[in-house]
Amino acid sequence: MTAAIQTKNLSAWYGNKQALKNVSMDLEENRITAIIGPSGCGKSTYIRCLNRMNDLIDGFRTQGEILIFNKDVRSIDPVELRKSVGMVFQKPNPFPKSIFENIAFGPRIHGLNNNGLDAIVEESLKKAALWDEVSERLNDNAMELSGGQQQRLCIARALAVKPKIILFDEPCSALDPISTSKIEDLMLELKKEYTQVIVTHNMQQAARVSDNTGFFLYGELIEYGGTRQIFKKPREKSTEDYIIGRFG
Ligand SMILES: Nc1ncnc2c1ncn2[C@@H]1O[C@H](COP(=O)(O)OP(=O)(O)O)[C@@H](O)[C@H]1O
Ligand SMILES: [Mg+2]
Repeated sequence: MTAAIQTKNLSAWYGNKQALKNVSMDLEENRITAIIGPSGCGKSTYIRCLNRMNDLIDGFRTQGEILIFNKDVRSIDPVELRKSVGMVFQKPNPFPKSIFENIAFGPRIHGLNNNGLDAIVEESLKKAALWDEVSERLNDNAMELSGGQQQRLCIARALAVKPKIILFDEPCSALDPISTSKIEDLMLELKKEYTQVIVTHNMQQAARVSDNTGFFLYGELIEYGGTRQIFKKPREKSTEDYIIGRFG
């Protein structure tokens, strides 16, 4: 396999509080990796390390290696890093601007002149399975879209700067079942071109969309393997207990 992301003995702290403990994990290119585990076990911290989102938090520090396509993230300019490693959050967070401007924002920052923008906006919205719903109203404010549409807009916004990796932090927890299933279909479609990591509380969702699953508990990676194996034949007792709903 080709690893798009590797962490080696990754530990992380908020001040004195340790949130990750020696997490070593290789995440496969063009696959979907699910990160599961109870609240507070370090899932968000883990994926936020991958694009250095937590670097701005006072007192946050890490130890160990984080490699994106074999490059240490600390050696990559943070702006470049966040361009190639996009992120979609729990609550859709479009800018209070037009649909068009939401998508055009990133490419503009990265120096694209106005000429290519129409094409990028269209391509990104098509990839995010939103084009058909918004092509006639690109100048409408993005806040007028439904929650599910807003989340696909946020995915389109991430795609517009041509990332290689997309991190999803519980992307469906604020969405209804139909919008959730649209996002899951979209993720499966995006597999052709992107490496994706999804933090989810929803076991069925992890089982439906992911190829590999990592189970975190108290900041540790307890078990990591093919999703089918993790759900059907977990090696660890705590994985099994979590999956069948004994805690968390
Ligand atoms: N900004 C922060 N400052 C201090 N502690 C934090 C911060 N963010 C998270 N933590 C702590 O780190 C641990 C892991 O949190 P997190 O990664 O958000 O867990 P999860 O996403 O699995 O719910 C928790 O104990 C949480 O309280
Ligand atoms: Mg979280």
